[in-house]
Amino acid sequence: MRDKLQQIKIDALVLIDNAQTLEDIEEVKLKFLSRKGELNSFKKKIKDLPADQKPVIGALANEIAQELEQKLNDKLYILQREEILKRIESEKIDITMPGKAVYSGKKHPLTTTIDEIVEIFQGMGFSLVESQHSPEVETEHYNFDMLNFPPDHPARDMQDTFYTQLAPNVILRSHTSNSQVREMQTKKPPLRVVIPGRVYRAEDVSSRKNNLFHQVEGFMVDKDITFGDMKGVLNEFIRLYFGQSRPTRFRSSFFPFTEPSAEIDVQCIMCKGKGCRVCSQSGWLEILGAGMIDPNVLKNAGIDPDVYSGFAFGMGVERLAMLKYAINDIRLFFNNDIRFLKQF
Ligand code: PHE
Repeated sequence: MRDKLQQIKIDALVLIDNAQTLEDIEEVKLKFLSRKGELNSFKKKIKDLPADQKPVIGALANEIAQELEQKLNDKLYILQREEILKRIESEKIDITMPGKAVYSGKKHPLTTTIDEIVEIFQGMGFSLVESQHSPEVETEHYNFDMLNFPPDHPARDMQDTFYTQLAPNVILRSHTSNSQVREMQTKKPPLRVVIPGRVYRAEDVSSRKNNLFHQVEGFMVDKDITFGDMKGVLNEFIRLYFGQSRPTRFRSSFFPFTEPSAEIDVQCIMCKGKGCRVCSQSGWLEILGAGMIDPNVLKNAGIDPDVYSGFAFGMGVERLAMLKYAINDIRLFFNNDIRFLKQF
């Protein structure tokens, strides 16, 4: 019996010694120390022994059980430690390695330009038009009629304006001026707003023209607003946008919704004199249209033109961005070529 016990002990110790994993330890425990394990099976036989041997063998069996338990726990501790060390090793990071660059998205250059323009006007007390007054899908009524366009005006032509099939007279707005009367109708002067947005024209696409582009419109209505106020505001805008005062030129022009009207040129910012392709050697760049709001437009909006006056202006965002960043093809803004966009 004694030998049998010693054999169990030796078998168990060999297995414990060979155990490589926590599972191995569990297995040894099960095989020798569990309820149906070898030691227990052995103990059941002790009752059949002669009376004088029972206590001796019983005590020895208990001693061995305790010893095995101790050995198992020691081995368990070693294996767990090894496992932890292995994990630490495998999860080690070398903080001296150079990092991987993370490329974050950026604002599109047109968005940046719009933000910049709007911010300049906000600095002069203008606020953003209410968005519901600035729809891109618009009726001829607000895009043309209310702005004093005669019924046969060529801008209404299908060659120039995109008509939808939603209903007759529903178009894609051809300018942000569509918001003028919408905004004026619901508010009382004094009014000072800017209207950034997308506009659409049925153009042949070229390096200078796209059939979708962006404008920032603005207008101001109050008592005693004069052409001089308009000049002051627009010259200040040009100074802030281009970063310095530049000579400007107000050329007389025509829009159905302003009278008098002007197109405003700024002295070419890239002019290399002879052969300048940016301004075709004229020395001037047209950057916006503007004028005193026609009394008919004020009337259409329910504002008394004998009491109030105002000015309005509209500028092409792409054009302003092209001038500032020396971009020579408007299509670059819309191709979304990452090599172009990354530069901003
Ligand atoms: N809506 C005009 C255009 O698209 C610009 C403009 C706006 C002119 C406001 C005068 C006043 O060309």
